[in-house]
Amino acid sequence: MISSNPSSLTNPNFNVCSENFNLLNKVVITKQSLLHQENPLERLPHQYIYWENTADLLPKLISQIIDEKSPDKVSRYFDARKLLENLPKYEINNLKTEKERCRAILLLGIFAHTWVWLPYVSGMSDRPEYFIPEQISVPLYQLSEILARPPVLTNSDLFDYNWKQNNLNEEVNIGNLDILNGFIKNDAEKYFYLIYFVMTLKGEPAIQAMLKIQKALKEISFVNDLFLLYIQEHLDIIERALQEIKTNLAQVFSTINKQDWFNKVRGFSVGWNNKDMFPNGVVYEGVKAYNNQGQFFYGPSGFQYSVFQCVDAFLDIKHQAYINQVDARLYMPSHQINIINAIENSPKLRTFLTEFRIGDQDFSIDVNNKNYQSAIASYNNCVRQLRNIRALHFGVASKYLTQMILKELEDKIILTTGGQQNNHEHLLKGMIAHHNTQTI
Ligand code: HEM
Repeated sequence: MISSNPSSLTNPNFNVCSENFNLLNKVVITKQSLLHQENPLERLPHQYIYWENTADLLPKLISQIIDEKSPDKVSRYFDARKLLENLPKYEINNLKTEKERCRAILLLGIFAHTWVWLPYVSGMSDRPEYFIPEQISVPLYQLSEILARPPVLTNSDLFDYNWKQNNLNEEVNIGNLDILNGFIKNDAEKYFYLIYFVMTLKGEPAIQAMLKIQKALKEISFVNDLFLLYIQEHLDIIERALQEIKTNLAQVFSTINKQDWFNKVRGFSVGWNNKDMFPNGVVYEGVKAYNNQGQFFYGPSGFQYSVFQCVDAFLDIKHQAYINQVDARLYMPSHQINIINAIENSPKLRTFLTEFRIGDQDFSIDVNNKNYQSAIASYNNCVRQLRNIRALHFGVASKYLTQMILKELEDKIILTTGGQQNNHEHLLKGMIAHHNTQTI
């Protein structure tokens, strides 16, 4: 092992020797991505035509059912129920590819959530449904086993794997995208799903930069100016990606109608983890493994957003909602979990910058070195940028959820996006406050 050489850092005549340069050039990563490598499949094979047709029809019916002024509200409600009751009992064996399975589980998740929540959201009943019929629950369960996640809608289904490009010649941006499926398919739903996907897309350069830094940390045997510069430049890529995420979030949420989101979109994607709402869970009819026992699953939740899980792990930011993030991983696709785990289990940049240590190897760094200070400043910018996005998101959650909840009747059980009850403000505020203390 070549030990670190502090004098080389303080020496103004320090030259980048070719050996050092090669060392950094060796840092080549195989492309790991939080997103699927291909665009989502838009239609399932013909054998599954009823699933596709039902997914096409449901939003039209649901829009009429939840429209207060609709004269046909009640009959449309029973039309929607019948549509789901009459779904054929398809085998999943003909779904051969990952793309087909991902699309199928998206549709089945939408059917399951519509079945459970429509009675309640439409006001036709004072409670949601406590079971899922077997034509939905059995294939949903079987696919969830193959994909190693619970049989309920996840963020990845609804956001990462539910979009199409309107114009293939243009780059992917929110103006050039549409969602494939939804419950209502109004603008509030469309942009709510798309912004999440776009925020994951914008996070990609940050993920690649984090993996590169950690690979460099693993391989470094001595610290020099070039190495510190490399760290700083890649931290700047992360900061710029976070800035992009923030800009997109702010722009999109200035256009989403909050009544439409709160009254029409929010209700359907909630899961069935809440014991007040689901005292005995939800029974998956025909699923032998569950033996008629009610199940409790979270619905899509921000905690399943992989970019922040990676950034927290990389910057080594500890907060009280870490446990929520870990729980959420059960619902995330394996390619995302692998990246989070890889980042979480790799050498921590923060430890290197503050304790001059990677694993059991110590390094000497002159804290007055310009490049070292720049790396620290860039690290801190990333922490601040993450905090800024979380502050912005707190404002969004407050406007679209907290303030709207206050207007609801006090005796109603109000659930947040992921099914948290009552404590979401405290949870989100805690995550922001923690960052204040976590710059270096
Ligand atoms: C109407 C818009 C939104 C509302 C009302 C909202 C609300 C919430 C709530 C209540 C939580 C706490 C956990 C839970 O109950 O699931 C949460 C967490 C979270 N949300 Fe949102 N959210 C919105 C939009 C978004 C968007 C578009 C993203 C994009 C990625 C996002 C990312 C997150 C993240 C990452 C968390 C976990 C906490 C964190 O890491 O900071 N949210 N959100």
